Amino acid sequence: MVYITRKENFCAAHKLSIDKWTDAKNQQTFGKCANKNWHGHNYELIVTVKGIPDKETGFVMDLSQLSRIIQRQIIRKVDHKNFNLDVGFMKGIMPTTENITVSIFNELKKYLKKAKLHSVRLVETGKNS
Ligand code: NI
Repeated sequence: MVYITRKENFCAAHKLSIDKWTDAKNQQTFGKCANKNWHGHNYELIVTVKGIPDKETGFVMDLSQLSRIIQRQIIRKVDHKNFNLDVGFMKGIMPTTENITVSIFNELKKYLKKAKLHSVRLVETGKNS
């Protein structure tokens, strides 16, 4: 089994808060990400697929094809968008790094046939992923 990885980038806004909580409790729980008037992150999206290399091409999957799938199915839906308001596959879901990652995994696996989706890693800041 061989694992191959593609990295893509996007910028998006979000806000982490729970409406019925007080501002103080949201601030205490979600820190800077609770900012009322939104804020953005420069995200890195790291996608790993696995499979047996094809005997003829030596590819598990053409990485440029993986890039096109990530671009078409994820990046164009999230880049320069607001996760709380604009992104269909995040509707009603708190846009934490965890939840965005799970949603992206579930979206991407629909579009991969030959290679199997192994993992999605989302880097939100240099320190958090
Ligand atoms: Ni944030």
